[in-house]
Amino acid sequence: MLIDTFGRSHNNLRISVTDRCNLRCTYCMPEEVVFMDRAELLTFEEITHFTCVAASLGIDKLRLTGGEPLLRRDLPRLVRMVAAVPGIKDVGLTTNGLLLPQQAQALFDAGLRRINISLDTLDPERFRAISRRDGLEQVLAGIAAAKKAGFSPIKINAVSIRGLTEQDVVPLARFAREQGLEMRFIEYMPIGAQAWERRKVYFAHEILEQLERDVAPLVPAEDYDPHAPAMDFQYSDGGGRVGIIASVSRPFCMSCNRLRLTSDGKLRNCLFALGEVDIKPLLRGTRDDARLAEMIRQNVRDKWEGHEINTARFIKPQRTMHAIGG
Ligand code: GTP
Ligand code: 5AD
Ligand code: SF4
Repeated sequence: MLIDTFGRSHNNLRISVTDRCNLRCTYCMPEEVVFMDRAELLTFEEITHFTCVAASLGIDKLRLTGGEPLLRRDLPRLVRMVAAVPGIKDVGLTTNGLLLPQQAQALFDAGLRRINISLDTLDPERFRAISRRDGLEQVLAGIAAAKKAGFSPIKINAVSIRGLTEQDVVPLARFAREQGLEMRFIEYMPIGAQAWERRKVYFAHEILEQLERDVAPLVPAEDYDPHAPAMDFQYSDGGGRVGIIASVSRPFCMSCNRLRLTSDGKLRNCLFALGEVDIKPLLRGTRDDARLAEMIRQNVRDKWEGHEINTARFIKPQRTMHAIGG
């Protein structure tokens, strides 16, 4: 199994399928961006082959990410391919939702069940300010399409930035309660293109205070997964669940179970990793599964204790969020 030198066992692989996106969120990517050449991207066959080798080492949970994964043509075909890999028990997707009205049903039919949709605000002006594009109506239609197709759970991800989206916490939480969705608030992390400052992080305890004051009292969720980044709560009036991803104020690195594969075939043992391992030659050239398995194992052994966001030692990775996938 993939156990690192801190005793953490890795069963969760996040696969980025493209660095392209149809939004330009300020916290994630620069306004002008040069995307990768399509020839650089791993093919569906290469991704599936990688998944087979990773599954033989103990990976059983996958999440497809981007950029915006629905921009990758025929994504349901990839869902089918990776879901059929022996040992894979769970496939999820993280999307901005814009293309879900057209694709939700096909993804569901391909076997996808868990979907996370990013939505930072219900205000069209702020949506445009944050994402540098219009699209709120489409995302709302995407959420409706995901519900109609039968996805469960549907989680809504909102990045919390002081002075920008703190006013969105209560409206989003109420919307999610009404719609039967799981709302999750994410502390703003230093991984985008923008200059990040700690004072811009709207902290978990402040979000919780707002929710308890203006939405409803909360209790820790009973089936809380200690390996997931989110701290999960339930409304004590039975109004559903809400999660907080407190990467800055409560780092969860010591329970990390994740590896990442970028769309151009680089292995990253941490969201904030400064180094990457290029495994594309082993998928595209002469295949050598034993060597690939050893490279994955070594990448896990090389994993550090965790990010150092809260220290002066922190170094922001060169690769920005849209090319990692979160
Ligand atoms: P599930 O728990 O399977 O529903 O998914 P998830 O919450 O891990 O994935 P999602 O793509 O929805 O990510 C939500 C937020 O958590 C994003 O901002 C990610 O960047 C962040 N995140 C995911 N994994 C990690 C991680 O390992 N470390 C840190 N610091 N943040 C992470
Ligand atoms: N800090 C926190 N979350 C971020 N995301 C993108 N950039 C950042 C950031 N700088 C989130 C997106 C999406 C998920 C994949 O990562 O909103 O929900
Ligand atoms: Fe894991 Fe790195 Fe995330 Fe920490 S920051 S939880 S080590 S991926």
